[in-house]
Amino acid sequence: MSYPYQINSFEEYQQAYKKSIEQPEEFWASVAEHFTWRKKWDKVLNWNFTEPTIEWFKGAKLNITENCIDRHLEKLGDKPALIWEPNNPEERVRIVTYNRLHKRVCQVAQMLKNNGVKKGDRVCIYMGMVPELAYAVLGCARIGAIHSVVFGGFSAQSISDRLEDAKAEFIITCDGAYRGEKTIPLKSVIDDALIGNKTVKRIIVFTRTRTPVSMLKGRDVWWEDEMDYAEEQVEKNGVVSFEPEIMDAEDPLFILYTSGSTGKPKGVVHTTAGYMLFTNYSFVNIFNYKQGQIHFCTADIGWVTGHSYIVYGPLSAGATSVMFEGIPTYPDAGRFWDIIDKHKINILYTAPTAIRSLMGFGTKPLENKNLSSLQVLGSVGEPINEEAWHWYDEHVGKKRCPIVDTWWQTETAGILISNFAGITPSKPGWATLPMPGVQPILVDENGNEVLPKENETIAGNLCIKAPWPGIIRTTYGDHERCRTNYFATYQNLYFSGDGALKDKDGNYRITGRVDDVLNISGHRIGTAEVENAINMHVGVVESAVVGYPHAIKGQGIYAFVIVSSKHSDDELTRKDILQTVTRVIGAIAKPDKIQFVAGLPKTRSGKIMRRILRKIAEGEVENLGDTTTLLDPNIVDEIKNGRI
Ligand code: WTA
Repeated sequence: MSYPYQINSFEEYQQAYKKSIEQPEEFWASVAEHFTWRKKWDKVLNWNFTEPTIEWFKGAKLNITENCIDRHLEKLGDKPALIWEPNNPEERVRIVTYNRLHKRVCQVAQMLKNNGVKKGDRVCIYMGMVPELAYAVLGCARIGAIHSVVFGGFSAQSISDRLEDAKAEFIITCDGAYRGEKTIPLKSVIDDALIGNKTVKRIIVFTRTRTPVSMLKGRDVWWEDEMDYAEEQVEKNGVVSFEPEIMDAEDPLFILYTSGSTGKPKGVVHTTAGYMLFTNYSFVNIFNYKQGQIHFCTADIGWVTGHSYIVYGPLSAGATSVMFEGIPTYPDAGRFWDIIDKHKINILYTAPTAIRSLMGFGTKPLENKNLSSLQVLGSVGEPINEEAWHWYDEHVGKKRCPIVDTWWQTETAGILISNFAGITPSKPGWATLPMPGVQPILVDENGNEVLPKENETIAGNLCIKAPWPGIIRTTYGDHERCRTNYFATYQNLYFSGDGALKDKDGNYRITGRVDDVLNISGHRIGTAEVENAINMHVGVVESAVVGYPHAIKGQGIYAFVIVSSKHSDDELTRKDILQTVTRVIGAIAKPDKIQFVAGLPKTRSGKIMRRILRKIAEGEVENLGDTTTLLDPNIVDEIKNGRI
C-alpha cells in the first residue's frame, strides 16, 4: 500500500518539486493533512535567515508519538514496528509490535514522570542498540522531554561536556553494551563523566551485559524496577494508556551534538512538527516505501541517521524498522547478508565505509545467502566511490535494486538531495536531484551564484536558499552560534560546509567538506577538536590535524605534532597521545598517523598553512604550491622527509 503523498513517477516528482517551490505553504500543508494534530496550525511558514527565525506550522498542537504509534494501532497493532537483531546471532531476536511499542513507550513516559522528568527537561541517553533505546527516545517525546542521545563510542569527557552544555538532569544508560567481541562498560563511563557534575539528579540503568556497576543510593535506579512499577500505573484492566504531553509545533524534540570547525561540538536543535513531516516524507519517497516492507538502516541511533531513519521516519509511516546491535564483521563478514536473508529485508540503508570494509572480504561471505527480498539499497554519510557503488549494485542488489545516494546532515534532519528509488534516475557517485521543498544553490567564495556556461558542469559551495521543514532551528543555549555557523557565511543562505558539482541536467555530486571538518567512516569530527585533545597531552607543544584519503574509512586522520618531551621510544609516545585522544573524545577520533615534527608551516602572521600539510598527508609532495610566504620554508622539506 502506498501513501497519499507518494511520488510514483518522474513526472510526479517534477510536478511535486515545482509546486513545492512555487507554493511551499500549500505544498507542505497538503502533506501535513495526513498526520494527527490536536490543533491545526495558524500559519505554515514564517522565516528569515538573518536571525535566523524559522517556524513551521506555528500554532499547531501535536505529540509526535501519537503519530509514530497511537494512530497506527487500530490497523497495525499486531504488526512489527521494530525487529531487533542482537549482537550475538545465537541470542533470541525480539519482534516488537506496534501494540507492544505503545505499551513500552507509555511505561517509559510514566517511569520518567515518576522520576521527576517534566516537559522541556533534557534527558541524556547513552545506551547500546537495544530496543529500550528506542523506547527511551520515544518515552521522552511522549512527555515532552528533550532527548539528547550520545553515541556509545564517546568518552566520559565528551559526555561531561554535553551534559553541561545541555544542563541535563537525567540520564538513561545501560550497564554495558555489546559490540562484536567487546563489551563497553557504559555505566562506568557515565560515572566518570559525572565526577564534578552538579546538575544530574537521576540515572536510570538498563541491564544488558551484567557488567558490574556502582549504583549510588538516591541517584541511580534500575530500569527494570522502575518499568515494573510504571506498568501497574499505565495498564488498567488490560487497557494501556499514558496521555501524551500536547506540544507546540515548534517545541524542541531533541538535541544532537555534532562537530563543526571550532573545538566544541554544537547541540543541534530540532523541533516537533517540521521534523516529523520531513523525516516521514523523505522516508516514504526516497526509499519508495510501501506498507508491509521491512526497512533496515544499519546506523546507530546515536547519530542522526538512526534518529530519522530507524526511529521517527519509519515509525511515523507505520513501517517495520530493523534495529541491529552488532557490527558488520561479527561473528563474520556475512552478518548483514544473514540478517537480510533471515528477516526478508526489502530496503538496506548503510554507509560507504561499511560497503568498502565488506568488499575487502570478497564475495565469499555472500555465497548461499538469499538476498532476493531486497528491493532498494541506500547509501549515506559520505561520498560513495564508484568502485563501492558498483560492488553494492552487483553483489548485493544483483543489479535489480536501485541505489539511492542520499546527501544530508545532522542539521538538515533528513535527506535533502538524492535520487528516488526506481522513480528518478541514479548516477553512480552523484546524489542527483533535490527533494521537493529543497532549493540548492552553488556559490563562490564571495557568495555569488556560480552559473553554468552552456552545458557545463559547475563547482561551488553548497548552500540552500529557503527553509525546508527539517532545517536546524538553533544550537542549544547559543543562538548566535547557529547564526554564525550556518547563516552568516553567505547572506540569506544556509551554508552546508560541503562543496558540490552540478551537471547540465541539474544533478548534484557532493565532493566533501570545504571547512575543517573531517568525515571518518561517515562520522564528523572537527580537526580543531582533535588538535585540542592532542594538545592536552603533557609533552605536546602544538599540533595540526588534517584528513587524507583512506581506503576504508574514506578519510583518515593525520596529525603533525611538536613535542617538548617524549619517550626515547617514538611508538610509546604515539600510544600515549592516542590514549589521550581516546580519553578526551573517544576512540573514533584517534589519529591514524602521527608524525613528530620540529615545527609547522606558518605564515608570518602565525597561521598554519593547512593546505601544505594536507598535500603532504595525501602524498602529493612534489607540487606544494607557493611556500614563499612561509616564516620558515625549510620546515616544509623536513616535514616532507619525515612523512609516514
Ligand atoms: C557528508 C549524516 C556525500 C557531508 C547524514 C555532510 C555526504 C556530512 C553524503 C554530514 C552523501 C552525508 N554524499 N557526502 N550522500 N551524506 N555526507 O551530520 O560532508 O553526520 O556535510 O550527517 O556527511 O554528516 P552528519
